[in-house]
Amino acid sequence: MALDPNTPFLSADLPEDMDVLKKALAATLSTVPGLFQPGSEQRILNLACGRADETGVLADVFGGGAGRLEIVGADIRSAEIEEASLRWKTAKDSDIQTRFHVEDGKRFLSAMSSGDRFNLTFMRHQNFWNDPALWTRMFEGGLRQLDEDGLFVITSYFDVEHDLACRKLTALGATKVADYRNVHSRELSDAPGKSIDRHIAIFRRPPPSDQGP
Ligand SMILES: C[S@@+](CC[C@H](N)C(=O)[O-])C[C@H]1O[C@@H](n2cnc3c(N)ncnc32)[C@H](O)[C@@H]1O
Repeated sequence: MALDPNTPFLSADLPEDMDVLKKALAATLSTVPGLFQPGSEQRILNLACGRADETGVLADVFGGGAGRLEIVGADIRSAEIEEASLRWKTAKDSDIQTRFHVEDGKRFLSAMSSGDRFNLTFMRHQNFWNDPALWTRMFEGGLRQLDEDGLFVITSYFDVEHDLACRKLTALGATKVADYRNVHSRELSDAPGKSIDRHIAIFRRPPPSDQGP
């Protein structure tokens, strides 16, 4: 599904980064069998989304065959969420609906009902290494809200944090179904060894019996 931004990106690198991300996500996804049913309604949860620059890419790559698409984002920073809301606001009668919440991710997830299910949980540049206790809660919540055949997708800036996050998700019972080193990711000149969307991994959620009520 095509979703164009209402306001331009301010950083000159962003359009290229989005193009690289889109190709990398499509390539990663192409290795995963049994994806969503075309024509159905899809729901995407974008956790710790910041400005959610990738919203159009998510609509395109994951909502491609959907009849209706809802993208729900949350982040603790209000200025970023305000920008996301403005940039990605859709018309009331559009087949794509977006909403962005300023909220602590743990609270946001724990307030969700068990029936509030998503086809995809996305965490771009997940930050597990920085605060394992916090991000474990976010991983648990993001996995819990997935549909039975839902996917949990992360991207990472650097190798060690990617490995740590993948290990934690596996320890939480998720199954890694794809792991992709994005060789076209843009190196960060001020942070050697880090690059934009350097790694992408896709997980399937644990069977419901492993996750408690
Ligand atoms: C590494 S940044 C990634 C942001 C965005 N996904 C991206 O790729 O540009 C981590 C994000 O986590 C958010 N964050 C930190 N603690 C949070 C919390 N408790 N609940 C929700 N978001 C949080 C930050 O505000 C920040 O936007």
